Amino acid sequence: MVQKLSLEVLVTVLGCINVVTSSHFRGGSIFWKPTGNGYEVEFSAKLGYEYGWNSCSSSNLNVYQTSTDVAWKCVSGCPVNGTVVNANRPGFTCTGFDIAQDWERTESTFSYVFPGAGTYVIEYTDGAWINALGSGNWRLTTTVNLHSRSDTHAPNFSPVVPAKPNCDLTIDATQNKSGVYALAITIEDKPTSTITIGSTPYAPSRVISSVPLQFVLLTPDLPTRSCSDKPIFLDPTPSQNDVLVYRQGDIVYLSFYATSRATTIRSFTLLDPPINIRQSALRNDDRFRPAVYAIDITWSPVAADRGSKTICVEATDNYTY
Ligand SMILES: *[C@@H]1O[C@H](CO)[C@@H](O)[C@H](O)[C@H]1NC(C)=O
Ligand SMILES: *[C@@H]1O[C@H](CO)[C@@H](O)[C@H](O)[C@H]1NC(C)=O
Repeated sequence: MVQKLSLEVLVTVLGCINVVTSSHFRGGSIFWKPTGNGYEVEFSAKLGYEYGWNSCSSSNLNVYQTSTDVAWKCVSGCPVNGTVVNANRPGFTCTGFDIAQDWERTESTFSYVFPGAGTYVIEYTDGAWINALGSGNWRLTTTVNLHSRSDTHAPNFSPVVPAKPNCDLTIDATQNKSGVYALAITIEDKPTSTITIGSTPYAPSRVISSVPLQFVLLTPDLPTRSCSDKPIFLDPTPSQNDVLVYRQGDIVYLSFYATSRATTIRSFTLLDPPINIRQSALRNDDRFRPAVYAIDITWSPVAADRGSKTICVEATDNYTY
């Protein structure tokens, strides 16, 4: 029973524009995989909102909350158009929030038994994006195809967006509102050589399935800062991409240290952490380096945590407004 823990340190510098708003959406994504049990599919949807929309707080992180606000609908391929596929588990858990940056994130996992191999189109559309972006409706769409692939002899599963960024994408964005951008990316998978799925040929140029990834990017004016200024992690923070192995029953202690030029570190945020993880308050450096701040995390892996988990920590400095 070996625990593999991939450790990842993500540094992001986000400014924040506070807006008084009833519009609340900040992006999202959805992934799916067949369970191997008939035409049953397991979905995992992550949605971002302005802070307060779902009352995410440290007391309800990773606690399932009932709600019927979100309806993922089958809009193509199902016997009844509009069938809600998350009706058996419509609620969510809060996975993170940041008051100053005005966001919170939720995750929902649900399964649905389709009547056949498909193809189906699943979508969640509603209003509205945050006011800063003009409050329009959003639409997140994924396609589900459960026919067997001739190369793997198993159904396809959707592309996943790895928590670990492994490519740079340059987007030439010209449309923004006060420096706020909405990014809507569709990730598609294609076979590397021609295969058949069911009886349909898929050449390397043909898309098998697609998932959405939508998020908000803020570019505030910071006259006293330069673009290269951002929080940086310092030793003895675990290195990015460290893989650590733990056994069930071990207690994992890890510390993260960060600094940022001519300012202080305001917070460390765990992004979608494994459950049971505990995070200390922000503290000063135990090596007495000035302007260095740290947190400690403690995690006790249980049997259900078997496999690979990613721990991702974001350091935020005071240039957030
Ligand atoms: C299903 O309903 C949606 C609206 O709810 C519509 O946009 C879509 O075109 C419909 N699909 C089919 C296959 O009729
Ligand atoms: C935002 O868009 C305007 C044009 O609408 C452009 O002049 C400006 O440079 C853009 N701002 C940023 C920060 O990209």
